[in-house]
Amino acid sequence: MDKIIKTTGFAEDTLIGLSSKPKYLLSKYFYDESGSRIFEEIMRMPEYYLTDCELEIFENYKIEFADQFFSPDKGFQLIELGAGDGLKTKVLLSHLFKNGVDFTYIPIDISRESMEKLKQDIHKRLPGLDVREQIGDYLDLIPLLNGSIPKIVLFLGSNIGNYSYEESLTFLRQLRSILNAEDKLLIGFDVKKDPEIILRAYNDPYGLTAAFNLNLLSRINDELDADFNTDNFIHQEVYDPYTGTAESYLISTKDQQVHILDLDRTIHLQENERIYMEMSQKYDETMIKTLAGNSGFRIINNYYDKRSWFVDSLWGLNSSRDFNNHSDPYQK
Ligand code: AVJ
Repeated sequence: MDKIIKTTGFAEDTLIGLSSKPKYLLSKYFYDESGSRIFEEIMRMPEYYLTDCELEIFENYKIEFADQFFSPDKGFQLIELGAGDGLKTKVLLSHLFKNGVDFTYIPIDISRESMEKLKQDIHKRLPGLDVREQIGDYLDLIPLLNGSIPKIVLFLGSNIGNYSYEESLTFLRQLRSILNAEDKLLIGFDVKKDPEIILRAYNDPYGLTAAFNLNLLSRINDELDADFNTDNFIHQEVYDPYTGTAESYLISTKDQQVHILDLDRTIHLQENERIYMEMSQKYDETMIKTLAGNSGFRIINNYYDKRSWFVDSLWGLNSSRDFNNHSDPYQK
């Protein structure tokens, strides 16, 4: 009898990724309960400068952000895609809350645990704030956010860096299509910088990034009844300072076979064969302008930290519909 193959997104995507050449897995699946916990530890390490930089930007510009977001007489929805623990957003939330601004906070995240923790935390610290969390892949949830209430969308942390240029365009155009003329998007980009600094953030001395990647193999073991031995893999980070692309790999340290019972598959890995795990794109201002322009947005202002290592870019809608230029600035 044929084995019934699980067809959830995770099972299907894992099957496709591990049957491809070269093999890959999708980084959105990093964030199960333990993966989300490891990511919070990553954000606390000094080497992972992204969080500190963006927190500094939020502390320095919260008043300006609040002014930019405020629309007289009307409330607004503050929608955060991939909210996680909301660390930086909470700086803004408390400022808005203390000033009696009328808004609803809609954090969206793929991790149920993160959303429950975030909701409880806000409930304690800012009692009375209207929080309507949503759990799921924000790509699937964006169409449901359609409506006439003014919207401010936050997409922080350089989360966009997980997407290729083409994927970013698709995502941003889809997002733009549900926004109205006065709506805005605040989007975080990690800036190109000294490769040593970038590699240290993704190749940390504590092994947290390695554990973050290996955790996805453990998740496949747990959820799809597989037998990955995480001791047979090492983590490798590469960065190309020209294109600004950082890539994360797991390398098989020996010839091995992995059985994935729920997928009815045996995966063969050769010694030194890599599984592509994640892309963390770094940007310069030209790339950000190109991305905005080609997805129907215009840049209102760029907010940098003191070292100019990170930028939160505030975008409004570009009324011109002529944004179908396909030149890819990631592949010079
Ligand atoms: C959450 C996608 C912004 O790419 O920097 C951190 C995830 N991966 N360390 C990033 C991550 C390895 C992170 N983002």
